This record gives sequence, structure tokens and C-alpha cells, in this order.
Amino acid sequence: MQSHRAHDLDAAERLYREVLELRAAQPDAMHYLGVLCHQRGRSDEGVRLIEASLKITPKHPDAHNNLGNIHKECGRFADAERCYRKALACGPQHYNAQNNLAVVLEAQERLEEAFEAYAKLLRQAPKFALGHYLMGIFLRNNAREVEHVEQSVECFRTAYALDPHNLRALEALGVSLYALQRREEAAQVYRDWLAREPEHPVARHMLAACGGAEAPSRAEDAYVRDIFDKFADSFDEQLLKNLNYRAPQVLAVALGDVLPAATGELDVLDAGCGTGLCAPLLRPYAKHLVGVDLSGGMVEKARLRGGYDELEVIELTCHLQAHPDAYDVIVSADTLVYFGELQDALNAAHHALRPGGWLAFSLEAAEGHDDRVELAPSGRYQHTRRYAERALVAAGFTLVHIATDKLRKECGQPVVGWVVLAQRQ
Ligand SMILES: C[S@@+](CC[C@H](N)C(=O)[O-])C[C@H]1O[C@@H](n2cnc3c(N)ncnc32)[C@H](O)[C@@H]1O
Repeated sequence: MQSHRAHDLDAAERLYREVLELRAAQPDAMHYLGVLCHQRGRSDEGVRLIEASLKITPKHPDAHNNLGNIHKECGRFADAERCYRKALACGPQHYNAQNNLAVVLEAQERLEEAFEAYAKLLRQAPKFALGHYLMGIFLRNNAREVEHVEQSVECFRTAYALDPHNLRALEALGVSLYALQRREEAAQVYRDWLAREPEHPVARHMLAACGGAEAPSRAEDAYVRDIFDKFADSFDEQLLKNLNYRAPQVLAVALGDVLPAATGELDVLDAGCGTGLCAPLLRPYAKHLVGVDLSGGMVEKARLRGGYDELEVIELTCHLQAHPDAYDVIVSADTLVYFGELQDALNAAHHALRPGGWLAFSLEAAEGHDDRVELAPSGRYQHTRRYAERALVAAGFTLVHIATDKLRKECGQPVVGWVVLAQRQ
């Protein structure tokens, strides 16, 4: 277990198996080996092992909770819900199970029940900082009235007061204040943070995002790493909760219309691969599937998920510049939203594609018919259609399709984006 906690998965797996050779039905070894198998991408084996351990110790709340986590992360929300309810039946004070139950109810769009589950968690554990943070995110994501965003402000303040290390609560506080048009208060949150940590990349970026400083031409590498390394563990969950995150699916459908049949013959790059949500959608087309991302934490998740032939922690423009004529398809889902100025990245993508190759990416849409990009208070950039068209043509792309779609939900509202397809002639 010590090796497991230290992320030495090879040693932990060997030792758990040794325990099971000595005592075939040792329930803890089965349970933790099950967790480990899932972490290594062998989720079915993980489920079998934890189910077997629960036959021996059926009232083990942690084992029910961990089995629920595997189902949740595999998208089987109803199975996950059943496990969390069993965990809570065995251990009514199991905060993690209560929290997870709220998450899967939200993922199933049972919002009233999810709200009740978060509220129960906070009644049971009023000092559980993460619970306040998650309630705040829930209220803001599903806000039907201004009041819900106001309540999210209180949740984030409490979360931060209870755990001053939780800087995501501070970031979220600024975003909610800005959404309420309390822009000066939002900027003040980040100024206070910068006064304590003058170099903090998130505070710097978010101050610019709410108009308190000049916006950089793209999000700094340090900002991206900071946000996504911390986000890696909960990314899929946040996106599952933040329903309607559809960028990978939408891009795959758009590509399906222009690519030949998926016979696994193409060299494909997932630029900004994150935890690898695009991998299963791109795999059928790919002879060789490469994923690159700035965040080591996200790449580690993608490695565990599997599906890539090659993964690299690198800034995507650098990777593209170093690989001329290397790819038939380049996909970038919800990643160029961290770029204000797109020209360098698009030039590099053109350079990295073979003639006839396709680039597919999503952007968040800025309104208007002018040629403009702005850093939005969310910390992501928004581009006008004309900006995208002009930059693509300047990069040398000649065939450009831009469609509109809803890519995610924020503050209860759909975020409209551009789904862009461009071909190198
Ligand atoms: C919102 S996530 C999307 C991940 C994935 N494409 C998906 O759809 O699930 C954005 C990802 O872009 C990565 N990213 C942002 N800027 C980058 C850059 N300049 N180079 C490489 N990766 C970058 C982040 O680390 C993060 O993993």
C-alpha cells in the first residue's frame, strides 16, 4: 500500500499479487489491486477484483466507493450510483461516497437530487472544503437564476476560508463575481492573491481575464500546466458533470464527413490531448496516433486511458514546428481556446500536415462580424469567425468549413463555439 500511495504501481502490483499467492482470498489485497488495475487502464479486471473482495467483506464502504469510482470513470453512472448507495448504507458518514453520489446524480441530469445530495454532504460535513467548492461549481454550472451564482460566491468563499491551499476556489470566486458583473470585486480577488504570490500564473492570467491587466497573446505555459496538472484527476469528472462537453464528439463527426473510411491508415495528432477523450474517436482512423500536451498530469491520465501510440509532454506549436509533413490529420479539441493569437499555431499546423491533410479544431465564439479575439472572464479566449477564417487563409489553408455548435455549458448557458475544418491543399 505504501508503494501504491507513492505511485510506484509496478512494485505495488507485484506485492499485492504476492499477498494473493500467500492467501488467495485476502480481501484488502484484492480490493486495492482492483483499484490499481483500473488506474492502469484494466478496468474490467479492477471491477472483478473488487466485486470478489466484496463477496468476502460485503460491508466495506471504501470498497463499494472505489467500485463506484471505476463505474463512474467508465461512464456507467447507474452502476456507480448503486455502489455509492451501498457504501453509504454501510457507512452513512462516508463523505467521499456522498460527494460521489452527488456527482453521478448530476451526471445523470437529476439536478434536484444532486443538489439534495450536495446539501446533505454539507450538513454532515460543514468543514469539508471540497464539498463547498463542488457545491459552488454545481450551482454556477446549473444556474437558473442569478441567485444561484450569488450562492456559488458564498460557497467559494467558504471553501477558500476552510482551505487556503485551495486556489481553485479563489479562481472560481473571481469567475462567479465577474459573471455577476461585480468586475471590480473579481479583479480585487486576483490582486489580493497576487499581493501574496506576485508570480502566480493563475492569478496573473485571471486578472487579465477580468480586464485588470493586459491579456497575453496566449495563455502562458506555466498557467496551462498549473491549471491542468491540478485539474487532471478531476477533469473527466468535471466535464461529465459539466454536461454537454462535446468538443471531441463534434470534431469526430465533422472529420467523419471528410475523411475516407476509417481503415486505420492515417498518421493522426491529437494536439492538446488532455486526458485522452479524443483517443477512442480517432483510433479507428489511425495507423499511428500521437498525443501531445503541456500538462504532464493530463498526459499521465491519457497514458492510463490508453489508445495512443505515442504521448509527449510538449507545447503543441513546438511539436508541430518540429514535425514537417508528418500528419494526415491534426485534431485540437478545446485547446486553441487557450491561444489568443492563433497565427503561429495555425502556420505550424499547416507545416506539419501533408498535402491533402485535415486540421480540425474548436474555438469559443466571440460575437460580431469583425476580426477580433478577446480573453474572456473564464480565462479562455474567444475568437470571431472572421478572425479564424483570416488566420487560416494566412497560414495557407484553402478549404475551410466553419460551423457553429454548442460545446459545453457554463453558468447554466450553452457556450457556443466554432467547429473548424481546414485542409492543406
Ligand atoms: C480543455 S483541455 C481539452 C483536452 C482534450 N482535447 C479534450 O477535449 O478532452 C485543454 C488541454 O489543452 C492543453 N493545452 C493548452 N495549451 C496548450 C499548448 N500551448 N500546448 C499544448 N497543450 C496545451 C491543456 O494542458 C489541456 O490538457
